[in-house]
Amino acid sequence: MFALEPTRRGLLGNAGLVAAVGATVMLPRTTFAKTPPGAVEFQVPEDPTKEPGRLMGVDGGYGSRSQFETDVRWVNPTRTASFTPLQASYGTITPSGLHYERHHAGIPNIDPARHRLIIHGMVDRPIRYSLADLKRFPTVSRTYFLECSGSSGSEIMKAREPTVQRTHGLVSTSEWTGVPLSTLLKQTGLTPGAAWVLAEGSDAAVMTRSVPIDKCLSDALIVFAQNGEAIRPEQGYPMRLFLPGWEGNISIKWLRRLEVSDKPFYTREETSKYTDLITTTGKARIFTFTMEAKSVITFPSGEMNLPGAGFYEITGLAWSGRGQIARVEISTDGGKSWSLAALQDPVLPICQTRFRFPWIWDGTPAIIQSRATDETGYTQPTHQQLVDERGPLESGPLFYHMNAIQSWSISADGSVKNAHPA
Ligand code: CO
Repeated sequence: MFALEPTRRGLLGNAGLVAAVGATVMLPRTTFAKTPPGAVEFQVPEDPTKEPGRLMGVDGGYGSRSQFETDVRWVNPTRTASFTPLQASYGTITPSGLHYERHHAGIPNIDPARHRLIIHGMVDRPIRYSLADLKRFPTVSRTYFLECSGSSGSEIMKAREPTVQRTHGLVSTSEWTGVPLSTLLKQTGLTPGAAWVLAEGSDAAVMTRSVPIDKCLSDALIVFAQNGEAIRPEQGYPMRLFLPGWEGNISIKWLRRLEVSDKPFYTREETSKYTDLITTTGKARIFTFTMEAKSVITFPSGEMNLPGAGFYEITGLAWSGRGQIARVEISTDGGKSWSLAALQDPVLPICQTRFRFPWIWDGTPAIIQSRATDETGYTQPTHQQLVDERGPLESGPLFYHMNAIQSWSISADGSVKNAHPA
């Protein structure tokens, strides 16, 4: 995980270094195909104290990460989802450029000057808002996780994906800034009987979901900023709905319309998709919104190698759509015994919480697991508990709301693999 290939120093060679005197050493080199995304290639001096570094402004005023940092989102073969590299995460905030993505018809390119949000239906006054209109309202900033309802679904019946990025990378955390939807609904007013709101995106899928009015009047936000800057195009630029703690799909991106009604709309994305088939009865759960408590160890995790017996800090992330994480327990013996992990402050509601657990590995095979409990007393289940409740996944890849305890097995040689409980 931590070892980096010493590649670019070799590529540059000493001849280039000798030639590069004065200003040339301060200019970005863009001729190297291997420059990681988000980075700019600069020459590496033999001794950085012996020549001036590059001047401010050569980056155009918007910075880049180190050319030695290589972690990127992993994109699935159909190019419909990308996964956050949780194995390389620090703290709890996901860099905006590494936030997971799930799109149903690509990323639309939207001119914010032309974009409008319309609120209509069972309201006293239908209103059309521009981005500038929206920004005039009092705003709030909240740090929340966002998780795809299909996150980890591949893992319900057996260990399938090799790394934590691919098993759990459809969850990320950002600071989101926007206007409470309740503020806008006070301006439009609601007519008696208003109970549901259709949220519609302006992507080519015209993504639509039905949202209960209670959520719209409590913590729902219309978000236009993420981690201190305008929200990224792939996260809904110039504005998106954000429903804290609920499955990602319902936080409609590129939001253009909210239609208030007295009943749900039963759109494609809440009937044929995003309902949870109970295979033992043939029936389905519908309108399952909340992402329940979940956790995963990010270090050590799949495809890493421990160099030998000794001290390691086990660390990972825990989150719950119902509120704060109350505790995280760690097992290093496949679930026979559990011990409390330390939770890193601040422990925020509906936010990823970093946990840490000091561990001395004796060099023998081990299975490590984490188990989260949230402030409601709900504890992360086992795979078997989920299967008992909803039936086995008989075919296809879809098992929504899969929040089972994840196991990583460590072999005597230090290699770490995704494992499934017997
Ligand atoms: Co659901």
